[in-house]
Amino acid sequence: MNYIGSKLSLLDFLEESITSIVDKDCRIFCDLFAGTGAVGSHFKKKGYSIISNDIQYYSYVLNRHYIGNHKELKFSKLLSTLPALKSTAIKLRKNEVCRYLSNIKGNKGFIYQNYSIGGGKSKEFERMYYSDENAKKCDAIRKKIEEWKLEDKINDDEYYFLLTSLLESIDKYSNTASVYGAFLKTMKKSALRTFKLSHANLILNDQEHEIYNEESNNLITKINPDILYLDPPYNQRQYGSNYHLLETIAKYDYPEIHGKTGLRNYDNQKSDYCSKPKVKKAFKNLILNSKSKYIFLSYNNEGLMSLKDIKEVMSLKGKYGFFTKEYSRYKADNNRNYLTNKTTEYIHYVECNL
Ligand SMILES: C[S@@+](CC[C@H](N)C(=O)[O-])C[C@H]1O[C@@H](n2cnc3c(N)ncnc32)[C@H](O)[C@@H]1O
Repeated sequence: MNYIGSKLSLLDFLEESITSIVDKDCRIFCDLFAGTGAVGSHFKKKGYSIISNDIQYYSYVLNRHYIGNHKELKFSKLLSTLPALKSTAIKLRKNEVCRYLSNIKGNKGFIYQNYSIGGGKSKEFERMYYSDENAKKCDAIRKKIEEWKLEDKINDDEYYFLLTSLLESIDKYSNTASVYGAFLKTMKKSALRTFKLSHANLILNDQEHEIYNEESNNLITKINPDILYLDPPYNQRQYGSNYHLLETIAKYDYPEIHGKTGLRNYDNQKSDYCSKPKVKKAFKNLILNSKSKYIFLSYNNEGLMSLKDIKEVMSLKGKYGFFTKEYSRYKADNNRNYLTNKTTEYIHYVECNL
């Protein structure tokens, strides 16, 4: 998923930096601001036991699957509903269930009614986030997943796998420039393609993992990982508003929505890490409450906290240091031309005096 602040392209830098500092016997890695789960997934593949957390529910769903699921999904209770599964090898059943859901009939549900052109006709707001057909398909699949869960035809692992597959797939058909803070005024080509539900990857391994959907500064008092990795937002853009549609598809809770973009209320998910006056206090509280031996923080040189602030706070726990990497990124200007520019990505760390 194309996600603000994703560390997908920085995983090697992260791994090299972290493994050069930590003891070999560190086994528990916590990704406290997990987003897409890219970092936790990487360290899960390296054999760590992962604690993963994010305040957004769609992120919980992704992490509950990518991190929490670590055994093959058998879909045993769905065999009577989908007889084709009986003759399908277990490891291919995920593909077969997604193929079945891709082909079910669309339904004029909440996403169609509120976020497609057809659904918005003669309403106050005509939103163009999805084509009519893709919005209907999204509704039908989301409802079927919930129905199977309520009828006990799928277990929790299978439920979160299917929700993740839906979130990852539908994101590729959205009529947006990147985030859901606005939709485009004409339908782009990729949004007009016929929707296909692709199955999310499954990372098999032997470790047990913990997944949370909590505010970071609350959770920190309840966990005790060897390595604490922090990747908080670094600017004022709240994830609750930028990804509101993924939140609604994940929850499918028929929220009250408002305005041109159909935003749901996200008051209880507003992050102090996106607020210049609040961020340093929140960060200090988090660092002081951590019980980990090692703390790593990803931040870039344009973030709300200055390098001086970060060093001052992290040094309260022990020996501070940092790694840097030049990072090219693309940025849209007001004329929708894409300009490349560079930032410096930092990994700050502290070896804590315990
Ligand atoms: C920079 S992104 C993390 C990106 C992630 N490392 C990845 O590679 O996808 C920051 C994440 O922090 C989450 N977040 C913001 N404030 C939070 C808080 N107070 N507690 C928990 N999660 C928070 C956001 O929802 C967002 O997913």
